[in-house]
Amino acid sequence: MLTNEEVIKLLSQVKDPFLHKTLEETDGIINVNIKEDKKHISVKVGISKLNTGEQMQMQQEIVGILKRNGANTVGLRFEQLPDEIIKKYQPAVDQAKEASLMGGNSNTKFVAVASGKGGVGKSTVTVNLAVSLARLGKKVGIIDADIYGFSVPDMMGIEKRPVVRGKKIIPVERFGVKVISMGFFVEDNSPIIWRGPMLGKMLNSFFSEVEWGDLDYLLLDLPPGTGDIAMDVHELLPTCKEVIVTTPHPTAAFVAARAGQMAMKTNHEILGVVENMSYFVSKKTGEKEHVFGQGGGDKLAEVLETKVLGRLQLQQPYMDEEEFSPGVYQEDHPNGKEYHKMAAKIIAKIEE
Ligand SMILES: Nc1ncnc2c1ncn2[C@@H]1O[C@H](COP(=O)(O)OP(=O)(O)O)[C@@H](O)[C@H]1O
Ligand SMILES: [Mg+2]
Repeated sequence: MLTNEEVIKLLSQVKDPFLHKTLEETDGIINVNIKEDKKHISVKVGISKLNTGEQMQMQQEIVGILKRNGANTVGLRFEQLPDEIIKKYQPAVDQAKEASLMGGNSNTKFVAVASGKGGVGKSTVTVNLAVSLARLGKKVGIIDADIYGFSVPDMMGIEKRPVVRGKKIIPVERFGVKVISMGFFVEDNSPIIWRGPMLGKMLNSFFSEVEWGDLDYLLLDLPPGTGDIAMDVHELLPTCKEVIVTTPHPTAAFVAARAGQMAMKTNHEILGVVENMSYFVSKKTGEKEHVFGQGGGDKLAEVLETKVLGRLQLQQPYMDEEEFSPGVYQEDHPNGKEYHKMAAKIIAKIEE
């Protein structure tokens, strides 16, 4: 009959189905008990996720191994591995998953821009952070994942459409930023009706069917709120980081907190809060007027245990006849300078 040590040795190379690490590496063989007379072996095994089809497969594998080696009956119990073990091995799994999304490029950092409601400047922030990151020498892409309310192409003044090469869609490049948007695939600005499962599929193909090349940053303009798409992003991109946009009004911050709390729940790191439309600078006196209230950004940052990355004033980009792009702030614009600082902070936070 087998000894304890032999059982441990036999099972040591069985792999955790989610972490793809052996039970030896995860310390997953918690307890072995052998009843010599009845040739009964009972084992307690730690696994990263309980009550799944994978667990049942693992169960068959273990019972098979022990029976082939002399056990008459096998008693098997599973329990969840400690969090620190799961955490230790999880990132490798997540990165592999994300790398496959991007066609093998695992160095891309994902940053989702979220807000509690529409109209607070989420798309404006996405576009300008992307352009500023590109100005700082980064290779940047944008996925306009706000598939009902897409606005990125218009904001950037993109008139071209992506071309298809082989089986891949080539994103449109503007100001050094590669862009893909649902807006490119809709005729005449007509409304689209999406049903649940299609949303996730759409998002998937924005990754796998688009020739992104080798990007440093991929920014996602999420739809407002905490709906399906936002959830899909959380599932699809476990290492995605988030920027939360709010206006200075305390109620707006309260609403935005929900989007932030979802990020926290799904373990997405929050890079910080962007307070948009923070104040208006009077042309006459040069004074700041807090037309939309005050304190929203700070309050939100406090709730989400993060910092305010920057504050943008109420002002449109300068008119530029030659390079029409109504939503992109020039480098020497006050907001352009603020975006530049925020982009530098994001780089420092992510690449430190
Ligand atoms: N700081 C700002 N100053 C002036 N107008 C702004 C500012 N930020 C955004 N806007 C304008 O407000 C509107 C809503 O912004 P948008 O980025 O589309 O919001 P969202 O994506 O959250 O719905 C747009 O017309 C945009 O040009
Ligand atoms: Mg938008």
